[in-house]
Amino acid sequence: MSVDTITASPAAMERGRALLSQGDFAGALIEAEQAVAAAPKDREALLLRADCALALGDVYRSADDLNQIVMNGDADPMLLDRLGAHLQELKLYDQAVVCHVRAINGAAPEHMPQLYINLGRAMMGQGNHKAAVELFETVLGAVPDSADAALNLSGALLSLKDYAGAAEACRKAIASKPTTALYHNLGIALHMQSGQREQAAEAFRKALELDPSNTGSAHMLSVASGEAMEAVPGALVANTFDGYASYYDKDVTEKLRYRVPGLIRRALTDPFYGKRRYQAILDLGCGTGLVGVMVHDVTDFLRGVDVSHNMLMQAVGKEIYHELEEADLTKSLGSDDRLYDGVVAGDVCGYIGNLDAFFANVFARMQPGGLFVFSVERHPTLDYAMQPTGRFAHGRDYVRRALEACGFTVRSTAPERLRINAGQPVDGLIVVAQRPGPGTAAPSPLNLFGKI
Ligand SMILES: C[S@@+](CC[C@H](N)C(=O)[O-])C[C@H]1O[C@@H](n2cnc3c(N)ncnc32)[C@H](O)[C@@H]1O
Repeated sequence: MSVDTITASPAAMERGRALLSQGDFAGALIEAEQAVAAAPKDREALLLRADCALALGDVYRSADDLNQIVMNGDADPMLLDRLGAHLQELKLYDQAVVCHVRAINGAAPEHMPQLYINLGRAMMGQGNHKAAVELFETVLGAVPDSADAALNLSGALLSLKDYAGAAEACRKAIASKPTTALYHNLGIALHMQSGQREQAAEAFRKALELDPSNTGSAHMLSVASGEAMEAVPGALVANTFDGYASYYDKDVTEKLRYRVPGLIRRALTDPFYGKRRYQAILDLGCGTGLVGVMVHDVTDFLRGVDVSHNMLMQAVGKEIYHELEEADLTKSLGSDDRLYDGVVAGDVCGYIGNLDAFFANVFARMQPGGLFVFSVERHPTLDYAMQPTGRFAHGRDYVRRALEACGFTVRSTAPERLRINAGQPVDGLIVVAQRPGPGTAAPSPLNLFGKI
């Protein structure tokens, strides 16, 4: 008998399935392992092991077994779709798209709407929002009351910054079946359009009526209602950037013409501040590592800290950081105790309103003479205030006062265009602060042409 035709022992399979249904996932996995060991190409045994791995939270291992079934030539469209969903969860969007397309090619017509939605989601992960919009619209053409298609359509339109289109998609779907997620996306779409704050707040209120535990809608309701706030909650930042990570680099460099990483490098290596090379740089809110890309060649050691796991995974892929750590900067700057002669924070202060404690923590982690270089979006009048975008802007005087209160010398607060947002320039400051120490001359008051 060839290995291709050996089937797993029915008794082992039965025991495995029974344990799985009773919630004994580890016990079920042992049975499934035995079944696969005895019959390595048995589709049912591999499926059982994939189910056990998934129940234990091991998506990678589950995907591996489903992939094995595909390699054995035993896959049907629904299995390909399932594998595609796993690959999406693992952020392997290109491979997920291939699986979903293969699933669609062989599937029965009644499965098409769901398969199109799943393909659209994978394309959104790739950053291909326009193609995803077309797929979701095709589904809505065939199944006008598909709340799932409408929700995904609104998400794709929000990513494309088509806020009016996103609001319309949500409203149509809400008319037949209101859900928290639809109200939330409606709130975001309204919030991003000027003069619609009250309606946006109402949409977030409705989202919370349906699900009072929804922290994202609660936060956005506070923002839309103009409530005073000290920082965007770390869990919400993590959630937002986890969903953005796979296409962040493409989005900010190609669409938003994001300049902050280059501006930070320029300041960090400007001879005016007396330093061109660093022993150790701490990149706070490092995200996918765009600032790291710009500074890794001027330091012997580079450490990144961020609250978003998926952003950090993108940074890992760049292979420029010596260390990366997941931490909420409003609570700590990470668990190491090194002192740094360079600290950078590109586009991070927008998530922290009151910067007093953050600056004090940075000061404590710096070597005397070290430079702290960061960006803020600029508020013309107030110390700091939440903007309609959900980020904080900071006043120049406040930033200076807060830095000096911690002991920093403020070397420069240069006005710069940081990026383009919805077609509008976002203006801010690139701030250079220094921890005083031996060898760091105080900037001369006679330097009339300096950068102060
Ligand atoms: C706009 S991105 C900037 C990323 C990177 N510095 C750059 O310039 O491309 C903001 C980053 O700050 C991180 N962030 C915001 N608030 C944070 C917090 N409280 N703790 C840790 N990271 C935070 C986000 O997760 C995100 O990766």
